[in-house]
Amino acid sequence: MKKINKICCIGAGYVGGPTMSVIAQQCPEIKVTVVDINKERIALWNSEDLDKLPVYEPGLKEIVGEARDRNLFFSTEVDQAIDESEMIFISVNTPTKTYGKGKGQAADLKFIELCARDIARVAKTDKIVVEKSTLPVRTAEAIKSILENTGNGVNFEILSNPEFLAEGTAIDDLLNADRVLIGGAETEAGQEAKDALSSVYEHWLPKERILQTNVWSSELSKLVANAFLAQRVSSINSISALCEKTDANVAEVSRAIGFDSRIGPKFLNASVGFGGSCFQKDILNLVYISRSFGLEEVADYWEQVIIMNDYQKRRFAENIISTLYNTVSGKKIAFYGWAFKKDTNDTRESAAIYVADALLDEQAEIVVYDPKVTEETIYADLDYLKTRDPQENRRLLKVVTDPMEAAKEAHAIAILTEWDEFKEYDWQKVYEAMLKPAFVFDGRRLLDSDKMNELGFKYYKIGQS
Ligand code: UDX
Ligand code: ADP
Repeated sequence: MKKINKICCIGAGYVGGPTMSVIAQQCPEIKVTVVDINKERIALWNSEDLDKLPVYEPGLKEIVGEARDRNLFFSTEVDQAIDESEMIFISVNTPTKTYGKGKGQAADLKFIELCARDIARVAKTDKIVVEKSTLPVRTAEAIKSILENTGNGVNFEILSNPEFLAEGTAIDDLLNADRVLIGGAETEAGQEAKDALSSVYEHWLPKERILQTNVWSSELSKLVANAFLAQRVSSINSISALCEKTDANVAEVSRAIGFDSRIGPKFLNASVGFGGSCFQKDILNLVYISRSFGLEEVADYWEQVIIMNDYQKRRFAENIISTLYNTVSGKKIAFYGWAFKKDTNDTRESAAIYVADALLDEQAEIVVYDPKVTEETIYADLDYLKTRDPQENRRLLKVVTDPMEAAKEAHAIAILTEWDEFKEYDWQKVYEAMLKPAFVFDGRRLLDSDKMNELGFKYYKIGQS
């Protein structure tokens, strides 16, 4: 079997960075180089001060501290890394298209295509190319076609190795993966490539958790896994709306159904809506692919998961407006949390962005506090929506680094991310700092209703009347 000595990964983002750090830590004899065209990002990965790494993940800085400059390297020398590696991971971003055919649904593959062209131009020896980015089904085929038609006669084996790590728990998910999926051609060379990649993961994972499939099953499984998970969140969120109208409590419903071992307890937390770079994108891809094969009912079925999620975000914002006497104009609303979930500084598709946008439409004055997200990111998220002038966003929304400052003279607090530290606050002090009546809208079901009511808050929790 082919022994892998050198790996490179194109793309030093939320996926490439943590994944390669773990591979390097677990496989000290393999040289792992992570390359990116973004010079600032690479400089941050090489920061002396490990608190400055561009991705925040619990446990990541310790691993980078151990492996960096031993067998883990971060560099902007893309060509050199491609040239010297036997195995190349493509881990670049694949945003939803914002233009042309498939706009708003299909994945934009231009970054992937650029990588494939780089590899084809540079490679002088046989390579195993591993697609790690989230991709629509049959992308491996596109990569293969570019490599075979523009390359210089070298042999490329294309593997699909989808990412299942969840942000905020990436290191644990990588070290204790439920499964690793490796898709490849059903040929002798394809089998050899799959085994070569399996042997990397076998450094720390039991063999039975490494599943080999054909390329298309692997690509599709990634979309389907995320669609099923997102569907659970949308399902429970639909029930949260019903609970708010009745005397049922969504937490009690979740607990009751989760005890059924066929259903299980995970991913049943009602919330202001799911975010993140994967769920929406993967479902939109599934919808787009289904429609392109003429499967309208299948497409509509999965699209409903997104429709329910948009409804949940809108409903949360509308509840704030109607509760604050149908006007939030000029009212100060503090946002606790901006990230799409706790323990990450990633904000892609975060519910907070859409809730803020709806409230800004009503001329609310928002003050955001998030322990890990920068002011620059928050403004970039809002500007990206192109719903109002960037100056207007900066006039109406401020970012602070102190949660008490956010609460000072606020009409309401909206909890958008389930950061642990919010539970530890002295809520009595928060109450004193706010205007009365002091409203708290808890989009993450983080706090205790009885305690908040006792303190004098008007406390609203998703999924409870
Ligand atoms: C997801 C997949 O879990 C992971 O396997 C991978 O393929 C990439 O996509 P990620 O997006 O990082 O990971 O986070 P995840 O933990 O799945 O949460 C997604 C969103 O759903 C978050 O906004 C989270 O707050 C929300 N969520 C999750 C709920 O609202 N309720 C739940 O019960 C669970
Ligand atoms: P993900 O969550 O999928 O990891 P990110 O946006 O965090 O997505 O990271 C993707 C990275 O890929 C970015 O840092 C981007 O600069 C990098 N990238 C995109 N295209 C190329 C390319 N052609 N060559 C090298 N790096 C690239």
